[in-house]
Amino acid sequence: MKPKVLVTRTIPENGLALLRKHCTIKVYSKDQAIPRWELLRGVKWCDALLCLLTDKIDKTVIDANPKLKIISNYAVGYDNIDVHYAASKKIPVTNTPGMSDDAVAEHTFTLMLALTRKIVEADHFTRSGKYQGWQPYLFLGHELKGKTLGIVGLGRIGSGVAQRAGCMKLNVMYHDIRRNPAFERQYQAQFVSLKKLLRTADFVSLHVPLLPSTKHLISSKQLKMMKKTAYLINTSRGPVVDEKALVAALRTRTIAGAGLDVYEFEPRLTAGLARLPNVILTPHTASSTAEARAAMADLAVRNILLALQGQKPLTVVDPEIYK
Ligand code: DGY
Repeated sequence: MKPKVLVTRTIPENGLALLRKHCTIKVYSKDQAIPRWELLRGVKWCDALLCLLTDKIDKTVIDANPKLKIISNYAVGYDNIDVHYAASKKIPVTNTPGMSDDAVAEHTFTLMLALTRKIVEADHFTRSGKYQGWQPYLFLGHELKGKTLGIVGLGRIGSGVAQRAGCMKLNVMYHDIRRNPAFERQYQAQFVSLKKLLRTADFVSLHVPLLPSTKHLISSKQLKMMKKTAYLINTSRGPVVDEKALVAALRTRTIAGAGLDVYEFEPRLTAGLARLPNVILTPHTASSTAEARAAMADLAVRNILLALQGQKPLTVVDPEIYK
C-alpha cells in the first residue's frame, strides 16, 4: 500500500506530480488556508504532512498523529511549527532553505527602489490622468548609489542582498550573531553593532528568522536610533518589528518610510498602517516567483519521499533527532 500524504494547499504541479508517483495524496484544494478541523482530520489519516507557514502545527496537531513520519514545511521559516515538541515525538521537521533566496533578495530591492522612486504614487498619478507633461520636480526621488545599506542577519537571503548591493553601488554594513570575515572581504561589507547599523544606514533591511530573541528586534527605541531619512525594509517575519511602534514612527516621520512584505499579526494590518503614504505593503509575496515556488515544492516533496523511505531528509530543521 502506498504511503499517504496530506498537502494542506495546492502547491506547484511539479511537486504534486512527484508525490503522486509514490504516494496516495490528499490536497486541500480550496483557495484558503485549510480549516483547523480538516487539518486535524487529515493528519490522523496521513503518514506525512506537507504544510504551509499559515498552518499552525502545534501540540494538538502533532498529538493527532504522533506516528507521522515527517512534517515538511513549504517555507524556509518554520515558526509556525512546534519543532521542539515534534522532536520529542521523533518527528522530523523540514523546511525549504535556499529555494527562495534570489526571489526574496530581488523583492528587497524592489521595495527599496519603489520607495525611493515613489513608484506606487507615480503609477496612481499617471493612470488617473493627472500627468500633464514633464516637470522638473515631479516625483523627485533619491538614488541608491552611494547610500548605505544595513543588513540585519547575514544568512543566505541577507548575503544575497549584500551581493546584489554592489551592482547598485551601495555601501554595505551588516550585523549578525556571527561575523563572516571572508564575506566582508569579498563584498566589501562592514561588520557593525546593531546600534551603529541603525544610526548609520540609509536602508535597514531585516533578514533574521523569528525567534524569541528577534521578536520586536525593531521597536520604538531602535526606530528612534534610525536616521530621519532612512527606510526600513522587512521581508523576514512580521513580529520582528513592533508594528504599532512602526506606525507611530512613520506617522511622526521619525523615519522616512518602510517597505513591508510581512506583518506582525498577518494577515491583519495594525490600525493606521494602510493609510500611511510613506509605506509600501506587499502581501507576503517576496518568494512568489514561479522559479522559487517550483523549487520549494520539489524540495518539500523530496524531503517527504526520503523520510517515507526511512532516510534522513535533505533539510532537517533539528538534525539532533537523527543522533
Ligand atoms: C518562507 O519561505 O519562509 C517565506 O516567508 C514564504 O515563502
